[in-house]
Amino acid sequence: MESVQNRVGLPAKCDLRIRAKRDKCSMVFDSVPGDKSISQRAIVLNAIAEGRGTVQGVLRSRDIESCIAILRQLGVTFAWNGDNLTVSGRGLRGLQAPAGRLEVGNTATSARLMLSVLAGQPFAAELGGNALLSARPMDWVVQPLTDMGAVIEYLGAQGCLPLRIHGAAPLSPIAMEATVFSAQEKSALLYAGLYAEGITSYRQSCQSRDHTERLMQYFGIEIRTEGDVTFLKGGSAFSAKDVMVPGDLSSAAFLLAAYAIRGREHKGSLLIKRVGVNPTRSGFLRLLAEMGLHLTLHKEEDLLSGEPIADLCCTPGTRLSPVVAEGNGLIQSLIDEVPLLAAVSAFAEGDTVIRNCRELRDKDTNRIQTTAGVLKAFGVETSCSEDEIVIHGGRPPSPAVVDSCGDHRIAMTAAVLASSMDEPSIIRNCGCINVSYPGFVEDLSQFAHIDILRVE
Ligand code: S3P
Repeated sequence: MESVQNRVGLPAKCDLRIRAKRDKCSMVFDSVPGDKSISQRAIVLNAIAEGRGTVQGVLRSRDIESCIAILRQLGVTFAWNGDNLTVSGRGLRGLQAPAGRLEVGNTATSARLMLSVLAGQPFAAELGGNALLSARPMDWVVQPLTDMGAVIEYLGAQGCLPLRIHGAAPLSPIAMEATVFSAQEKSALLYAGLYAEGITSYRQSCQSRDHTERLMQYFGIEIRTEGDVTFLKGGSAFSAKDVMVPGDLSSAAFLLAAYAIRGREHKGSLLIKRVGVNPTRSGFLRLLAEMGLHLTLHKEEDLLSGEPIADLCCTPGTRLSPVVAEGNGLIQSLIDEVPLLAAVSAFAEGDTVIRNCRELRDKDTNRIQTTAGVLKAFGVETSCSEDEIVIHGGRPPSPAVVDSCGDHRIAMTAAVLASSMDEPSIIRNCGCINVSYPGFVEDLSQFAHIDILRVE
């Protein structure tokens, strides 16, 4: 048993035993880990740029290690200095053919961005992922890349990793309509558009996270959004840039949720500094405020890369009220926080309804089912369908033994719920937390007593 977490994160195989810490104190987090979406986009963009760019405040997690490892296999070189990563770009077509299969681990974002980059190379490569990723759909990225001229073969199940991709140089530009609500589909098309001579466009009926658009604009790439269509002019080299990565709102969300469900008598204030508050990502903040959390933003500023950041401040508020969260735009802006929203709703008297969330079925796990499963295990009355989760809140949850199913966001959501109870709960299968938030246990320890139980 270990009670102190080291900097590299949790043991690969471990469970967590968690119970509430009741000391009343104010909490300050000077930082949360760098944004996972932006870290990967900035690393990949610098890798195919001309010259050298430093990505500052990069998330140091397993997903980012996977992203870097495959770029290394393609000849990109990196230098770390603390949490700053200098990337020596190889230009759009300067990557080298890899010696073996590129293993992208758990990260869907890197898999989809790299599929597009590989589609534009004059060589063939194989891309594989871990078991969870290999069960997730890749066909909605593969189809447009095929339409642009790449030849892609599935090596296992149709529509999934592993696959072999034969690039085409140049790709042909296309005008595409969104087939799913996904920033990854949009981003994959835009990264492929860099390799196409002419204008590539993407139409979406609701705006998914727009980090790619902001970052490409900052890099001087010709990209503009008019109404619901984003246009990108490809085929030209661009220069590497230094990028400052904001704190990840999707990680800060766990601390906000742990605070929101903490008994009023034990609440001081909570301050989390320098978190990304891009409006296409911050639906969870808006809903927490609607539910009654006293949450204010301070020191708002825009980073050079166009990403807004702020300090998040919470003070004890009234009781939580239930909400109805619906509409594709709102759900997109909190897609990774839906499990947490469901967990917080357990503490709001009445029914919370989360609608239009069918995209959750294709995350690391089917998160509609795994979220409902965790809540039920804690004794929270919950029902779900293909597209909806309903939480009947107000009765305090009871301690439980639950399994994360290998999904980092499910493991951390369960840990947050466990942090509200005096009797311990056990969360099994927590090594996956390293995918996005290796320092999670240390941070949640402000709210809870946590033991790390190694599993042999
Ligand atoms: C991400 C987009 C979201 C999100 C994922 C990261 C990204 O997926 O769930 O964690 O980096 O673009 P979708 O775009 O498929 O909804």
